[in-house]
Amino acid sequence: MFGALNDMSIAWKVAERAVAEGAIITLSNTPLAVRMGTTNELAEKLNAKLIPADATSVEDLENVFRESMEVLGGKIDFVLHSIGMSPNVRKKRTYDDLDYEMLNTTLDISAISFHKMMQVAKKMDAIAEGGSVVALSYMAAQRTIFGYNDMADAKAMLESIARSFGYIYGREHGVRVNTISQSPTLTTAGSGVKGFDSLVDFSERVAPLGNANADECADYCVVMFSDLTKKVTMQNLFHDGGFSSMGMSYRAMEQYLKSFDCPQDENKFKEFKDEKGKIIYG
Ligand code: NAI
Repeated sequence: MFGALNDMSIAWKVAERAVAEGAIITLSNTPLAVRMGTTNELAEKLNAKLIPADATSVEDLENVFRESMEVLGGKIDFVLHSIGMSPNVRKKRTYDDLDYEMLNTTLDISAISFHKMMQVAKKMDAIAEGGSVVALSYMAAQRTIFGYNDMADAKAMLESIARSFGYIYGREHGVRVNTISQSPTLTTAGSGVKGFDSLVDFSERVAPLGNANADECADYCVVMFSDLTKKVTMQNLFHDGGFSSMGMSYRAMEQYLKSFDCPQDENKFKEFKDEKGKIIYG
């Protein structure tokens, strides 16, 4: 499991959930995150080995898979890539003023590391037949979201890698590769996105089921690791309460009209509801 930094991290929740289901896991994060973060606490709690690695380093990744196979006493059944970082976002460079060195770093950490992970694992024959590899993505790969910046390009690439590698890994080793496109979630990486709170609020109002939280994402990841999804591969799976299929919702429209200089017409909304306040239109 790559990417558990603190107890808000999606990978943290996935690790806890997988172990609760009886999995034996190893954890990995950057040497800096291991020193500064609280991943050690999780490792202790879950009795899991913590293997520091920069996910952009092929050598470090080889070490993670080697040590993991030693700990597990055989091949690995599932891998979680829960890694993302953009120096351009951190340094507040706008999308039309990107620093290209930083863009390379964004893509390397947030997308190419996924390729490196699978290339290393495949060469070492580290993942068992029928195994499952999951990376976390976001809808900005398909649709432009204010403030998501070069991470949108990284996510588009991440999802493409899942398809391209999924074809070869499936064909040769029966390994599944998918991305889960998660709702905006309050984590360290999430909070780096400009206007994140408003984004969370907007998608909460638009999605019929509301935003999916990190615990719910963990549930979905565990389903994807399990034998219940043996023939699901090369997919980008939206886990967002329905947000990605919506255009406009009643709740968002109501809020929109309230907040701006739109001519208010109290009766306008009344006709959409019955006397008990239930929405009676579509
Ligand atoms: P997080 O900040 O807890 O996790 C990001 C992780 O990436 C951290 O553990 C960090 O140490 C690690 N990382 C950064 N550079 C690395 C490197 N060079 N090598 C190895 N690890 C490195 O935040 P969160 O939200 O749990 O992020 C996990 C994944 O979920 C990311 O891919 C993120 O883009 C994705 N995601 C997050 C959403 C959100 O709103 N929080 C929504 C949709 C997807």
